[in-house]
Amino acid sequence: MHIGVARAPAASTEMPIAVPAIDELVIRWSGGHRSRYRWRWLRDCCPCDHCVGDGSGQRLADLRRLPSEPRAVSSAITGGQLLVRWDDDDHVSRFDLDWLAARCCCSSHLDDRAGGRRAPAGGTRCPEVADWSVVASSDRALAWWLEAVAADGWARLRGVPAGQLSAVVDRFGYIRETNYGRVFDVRAEVDPANLAFTGLALGPHTDNPYRRPVPTLQLLHCLASSADGGQSIMVDGFAAAAVLRTERPEAFAQLATWPVPWRYADGSVDLATEAPVIELGSGGTMVAIRFNERSRGPLRLDPDVVDDHLLALRRFASILDRPELQVRTTLAPGDLLLFDNRRMLHGRTAYSSTGGRHLQGCYADRDGLDSKLAVLRRHILEPHHD
Ligand code: OGA
Ligand code: ZN
Ligand code: ZN
Repeated sequence: MHIGVARAPAASTEMPIAVPAIDELVIRWSGGHRSRYRWRWLRDCCPCDHCVGDGSGQRLADLRRLPSEPRAVSSAITGGQLLVRWDDDDHVSRFDLDWLAARCCCSSHLDDRAGGRRAPAGGTRCPEVADWSVVASSDRALAWWLEAVAADGWARLRGVPAGQLSAVVDRFGYIRETNYGRVFDVRAEVDPANLAFTGLALGPHTDNPYRRPVPTLQLLHCLASSADGGQSIMVDGFAAAAVLRTERPEAFAQLATWPVPWRYADGSVDLATEAPVIELGSGGTMVAIRFNERSRGPLRLDPDVVDDHLLALRRFASILDRPELQVRTTLAPGDLLLFDNRRMLHGRTAYSSTGGRHLQGCYADRDGLDSKLAVLRRHILEPHHD
């Protein structure tokens, strides 16, 4: 039986109050909100020197050696901390109350934290534009620019000199090299291995759905633009999928369920995988869109399912065509687009293959960008933190 006593100053309603129960501790915060922390979770999170490495902050505790039924002998709130004394080896855990408050897992707090990952309701937002000379030298400008990619799925730079694409990536992460090279040229070629290297229009698509994992970021840098077309098209795939879910829930379910074969093959590579067009995460959040008609293979689906699937693909493609979901921009030399290749679809209008249009592109990954942004936030939002 649990015998813990929570010592909360009864007179003051400003202090949080800890109320122990058999399987969990409930903290009632000064505003009245109640947070539940299971004893097993608290024991698992113990930040003491035995459980967490001093300098690294990495977990030392061996999961298999933790008590399977951890019992608190006592628990008390004191000096801005929750102190729990455990029945195994007099183990003592001290948790900062701020740390606990930030980890409340009631449904409304979980929803708040998932908020950033939820699909936007509207169309595609116009991208933030920044000058490369400023982003190159100012961490504050860089943070603001990367913030836009995290929030809106894309952002734009101007004034990037030819040959500086990898310098832009160096600012926030690492190039992801592929069979197309570290940096690839997008221009009309005589004997193109990919329809991207022609003057043909490209409908909104994500790049490289045939890779697992797909490149999570893409950059396109304009070196020369042609007067006769070749406008860039951007569509927020999460917004488009949300429209499909509202208008045709059964088509959305099709695209979120059945795998599509994706493939790219030339003389030296044969890349193939199967994955659904809409990838959902836990709780139904959208994780990624894969959509690229150039590299979609014949569906391998039961004849009773395949018609509905093809119709669902058509519906999604026609939603991607809606002007209210598209942003069209003509890139000028020096302009650069950075976008999340799991969320944003990109395309272009046709152009004359003699027009001299020339882009350079490369891939990078979102985890590097997110890490850079998190470190920048530490310095910029908390300058005292060093
Ligand atoms: C590509 C591509 C866009 C463009 O190469 O994958 O989508 O504007 N290019 O040429
Ligand atoms: Zn410990
Ligand atoms: Zn592309």
